[in-house]
Amino acid sequence: MNRYASAPEAALQGSMRDFRTPKGANLLERVNAFYEWQNLRRENGLWPLGRSTEAGPRRACAARDDAGNRMEGVNFASQDYLSLSSHAAVAEAAQQAIRDYGVHSAGSPALVGNTTVSLALERKIGDFLHTDEVQLYPTGWAAGFGAIKGLVRNDDHIVMDALAHACLQEGASAATKNIHLFRHNDVEDVRAKLAKIRATDTENGILVVTEGLFSMDSDVPAIKALQDLAHEYNATLLVDVAHDLGNLGPDGRGHIGLQNMIGKVDVVMGSFSKTFASNGGFVAVNGRGVKEYLRFYSSPCTFSNAMSPVNAAIVLKAFEIIEQPEGRALRAKLMDNILNLRRQLGRNQLETYGEPSAIVCVKMGNEGLARLASRRLPELGLIANLVEFPAVAKGQARFRMQVMANHTPEDVALAARRLRAAHDAATAELAELATPQARAIA
Ligand SMILES: Cc1ncc(COP(=O)(O)O)c(C=O)c1O
Repeated sequence: MNRYASAPEAALQGSMRDFRTPKGANLLERVNAFYEWQNLRRENGLWPLGRSTEAGPRRACAARDDAGNRMEGVNFASQDYLSLSSHAAVAEAAQQAIRDYGVHSAGSPALVGNTTVSLALERKIGDFLHTDEVQLYPTGWAAGFGAIKGLVRNDDHIVMDALAHACLQEGASAATKNIHLFRHNDVEDVRAKLAKIRATDTENGILVVTEGLFSMDSDVPAIKALQDLAHEYNATLLVDVAHDLGNLGPDGRGHIGLQNMIGKVDVVMGSFSKTFASNGGFVAVNGRGVKEYLRFYSSPCTFSNAMSPVNAAIVLKAFEIIEQPEGRALRAKLMDNILNLRRQLGRNQLETYGEPSAIVCVKMGNEGLARLASRRLPELGLIANLVEFPAVAKGQARFRMQVMANHTPEDVALAARRLRAAHDAATAELAELATPQARAIA
């Protein structure tokens, strides 16, 4: 039952991009235009962001939207890919860390913020990735931003995938004006950019930046080709493995492992917030000199408090599980669910993007249609995240379904059917509205 009578056209149009550079002398007044647009969407049930759950990220859960409306359903909006957040040994590791260290963060890693457990975690990640050194950060965002800002200076260059994550883009903007975005996953474009830079500048550094798995399209770069190219042009490669480390590939080493590049990528950066049931992030490098430099010249490491010992203990335990046969079994379960979901969506005539990964993006297209479909999900019993411009290209709105190892085949089948039902209801509704949006998809 749709509890909303209609959908004003203005709530089906526009995007967050419209408010990115507000004009006006008063910094606080000029941001209100965003709130007005957002609130029109909220009042009409068309603002699916900023929701809260009432318990942990379980396969089915209750949540509230930011107007306080409760919903319940199968949960494909959490990124607990291996379901480690509900693993008893992980919870016990957290409790033991509280008993051993308390709940503080102890300070910056440049001062006394390290603990026995954070040092053990750094060694564990180094062994896992076959790199000499690892620096932990309080979040993945801080690690991405901090690695770039720590290494790159004004006159250096950054050659970055146009779809790289915001933490990488913002780190780049903070580090240098010499940013060269290359076409998504296009190795030849990287070559052209590197050749052009080196034709006139052999003095300054170049950082090439990509992700191991892109989370809006679930597609993958040719990591070896990028690393070879980087070395050919005396550049350094950074790969963000936030979404694939731990959960993809037989041994959990993600696409770096699948492409036989373990220990061969210059800089590996990652987040613990997806697979490792915790806040936190890391940068893995070869050479103590690079680690020490990051520790003291990468602001989010130097001037921010360390990951708390509780978080470090959670991630350490998660890595232990990931390396054991149990980790392999969880990854196999996750992949079964991923393949099943992609299959079921296909059977329901819904199109998915990219390669099989824990992120299954489902095409909606038109933003108005996608918002109306999203509005139907609470009544249908599905919790899923809508992604629209500018996070993805205009007219390419999609649901980003995040699969977990603990999902059951029934959860997967329900999710596919409910998304189909939401799409059908939204299409009918849009046709009735007879708006330009409706005409655009007719
Ligand atoms: C590709 C990528 N890099 C970095 C981050 C930031 O990680 P965190 O959430 O740990 O700050 C995210 C996710 O939020 C991400 O998707």
